[in-house]
Amino acid sequence: MVDADQASNPAGAGFTKRVFSGIQPSGGLTLGNYLGAIKRFVEMQEEDYETIYCMVDLHAITVWQDPEDLRRNTRELAAGYIASGIDPAKSILFNQSQVPQHAQLGWIFNCVARMGWMNRMTQFKDKAGKNRENVSVGLFSYPTLMAADILVYHATHVPVGEDQKQHLELTRDIAAKFNNDFGIDFFPLAEPVIEGAATRVMSLRDGSKKMSKSDPSDASRINMTDSAEDIARKIRKAKTDPDALPSEAAGLENRPEARNLVNIYAALADMSVDQVLAEAGGRQFSQFKPMLSDLAVAKLAPISTEMARLMQDQAEIDRILGVGAQAAREIAAPILDRTYEIVGMIRSA
Ligand code: TRP
Repeated sequence: MVDADQASNPAGAGFTKRVFSGIQPSGGLTLGNYLGAIKRFVEMQEEDYETIYCMVDLHAITVWQDPEDLRRNTRELAAGYIASGIDPAKSILFNQSQVPQHAQLGWIFNCVARMGWMNRMTQFKDKAGKNRENVSVGLFSYPTLMAADILVYHATHVPVGEDQKQHLELTRDIAAKFNNDFGIDFFPLAEPVIEGAATRVMSLRDGSKKMSKSDPSDASRINMTDSAEDIARKIRKAKTDPDALPSEAAGLENRPEARNLVNIYAALADMSVDQVLAEAGGRQFSQFKPMLSDLAVAKLAPISTEMARLMQDQAEIDRILGVGAQAAREIAAPILDRTYEIVGMIRSA
């Protein structure tokens, strides 16, 4: 894990060690979300941090979401967090839209961030593609809302996948420009916390693409709600190359599909890639794939069973999110108030 120490983060010095991270409820939960994010969220919850985890529903609607699907996906994501070990008594867990301060600070940041900075965001370019004239304005300003998510809590550490690094840099640029414009050390420069190996779980059909809930092919991903049979079938059909597994990590160079399956194995087993290859090196995929699917089923079945149980009681999920949102507002409200004051907004008593 890249340890984000406070010494390299002058503006973060003196701030509470506070983690914020978010996942979009824009589809079902995948193995990519679990290994790349939630597993680490659970670890950080047990460490010396205050932890705040969010379902970013306002981000999800930057592209079209059917309202019923959005509600279901938000609850399913909440169930996934809890089933994976996020304990609402230890972490603040809520959906973004229940805490209006995110959108409010997002507006201020729309007025801090520069068009030139936003135009460089690769995720926007990827998502907009050739369709630039016809995507929502929200998709373009997505990163300023993300900066607000983080900074409205004065969060100091943000566990994210590799693909979010640029958004984190933008968050730091926004914090620094705000502090500089108003001559005050108010927002911390939040550190990304990015772990190696399986931070980036790739598609089972194409090792150069991230495993995604929005990929049209369901065979490209393992969903946290997949049955044991589904998991086994998807791994059996996963794209590979004809060679045997190498006996050390360097041998996975230019073998993206092989690397992905080994990464997934390592992450699920809490082993390093080299440890996995020390055991499995020399084997064919016909032997390795069953090992991987047994491991995946063993690790994921308890989570999916618990998710299904939690999903039976929507009122309970909604109640948990309400309690989390209340706790989140208690932190965010005074920070937003102070921001408005710094900017020069009148605050009537
Ligand atoms: N953009 C993130 C993603 O797509 C989700 C996200 C929104 C987020 N707000 C955040 C992640 C704040 C970390 C912190 O994965």
